[in-house]
Amino acid sequence: MECAVEARGLVKVYPGGVRAVDGVSFCIRRGEIFSLLGPNGAGKTTTVKMLATLLRPTSGDAYIMGRSVVRERGEVRRLIGLAPQDLTSDDEMSGWDNVYIQARLYGYPPGEARERARWALEYMGLLDVAGRKAATYSGGMRRRLEIAMSIVHRPSVLFLDEPTLGLDVQSRRHLWGLIRSLRREGVTILLTTHYMEEAEALSDRVAIIDHGRIIAEGAPAELVARLGGDRVHIVMGSPGEAERLAGELAARGWRARAAGREVVVTVENAAEALPRLAPLVRGAREIRVSRPNLEEVFLELTGRSLREGEEALDSFRYRVLARRIRR
Ligand SMILES: Nc1ncnc2c1ncn2[C@@H]1O[C@H](COP(=O)(O)OP(=O)(O)O)[C@@H](O)[C@H]1O
Ligand SMILES: [Mg+2]
Repeated sequence: MECAVEARGLVKVYPGGVRAVDGVSFCIRRGEIFSLLGPNGAGKTTTVKMLATLLRPTSGDAYIMGRSVVRERGEVRRLIGLAPQDLTSDDEMSGWDNVYIQARLYGYPPGEARERARWALEYMGLLDVAGRKAATYSGGMRRRLEIAMSIVHRPSVLFLDEPTLGLDVQSRRHLWGLIRSLRREGVTILLTTHYMEEAEALSDRVAIIDHGRIIAEGAPAELVARLGGDRVHIVMGSPGEAERLAGELAARGWRARAAGREVVVTVENAAEALPRLAPLVRGAREIRVSRPNLEEVFLELTGRSLREGEEALDSFRYRVLARRIRR
């Protein structure tokens, strides 16, 4: 068996007609960290729910260690662990009780359930605070508690749906370390994220998902290499100036586009291109060179930024807040 997780043409149409997942196929090899990277609403959670047998596919099927998520749900559930995007731990219960009860739900007798709860909490660095109510945990601790709950039965395949959503950089990095350490124990991990840095830092392979479809798949470095070459960022005084320069460069055969105050020029090799490019540029505030990243892969494929929806939402919240303050 080559794939620990294999999705074959998964489709989910929600009642009301939303086609959330539109023919998704991929193969996650044993022991690898595989990321589904995509913006809000791309279909990541829906895909994970189908793989975790919580949602029945409209069509298609998926196999966990060769077991069908449609026809062998019981077997699949024993093989997988899921830390869902929406927290499931109980606020009013201690960290310990949350994990212990989870172990009992998996059918372990009290003694073994205690051992497993202790192991899982210790693994996630929560043993010291296990007696406290979950409600008192920080965001990072709460996410680690969810993962502790999802690993009590030592699953071979672990689904982590946006495990670092809303966490600060430090807690995020801490979690990355724990996720890597689970992989070292041989756990196959599917994680979803809309953080490009996260997918890049953690994954052996990434599938970029947008509007329910996978639009690119491969090792992060491979995907980036497909874009070809370096980027020269020319920062201008205003978007208007950037627009004008991008037009001039494009007319001379450069692959240039304006993005805000910046003109981004795609070149094979920045060191070779700069001496030819620089004389064409007037009034630049700054010129930088970068190697492209996954964010740019997404931009190139969709013409949108990964975080665009989210930023729009943030600016909406800001406007609402500003209005309230003004009143
Ligand atoms: N229970 C539901 N009923 C109807 N539409 C849904 C439901 N859950 C999600 N959707 C829609 O399906 C699409 C994919 O959602 P989701 O899988 O949550 O995306 P992601 O996890 O990538 O943000 C979105 O357009 C979302 O609004
Ligand atoms: Mg989601």
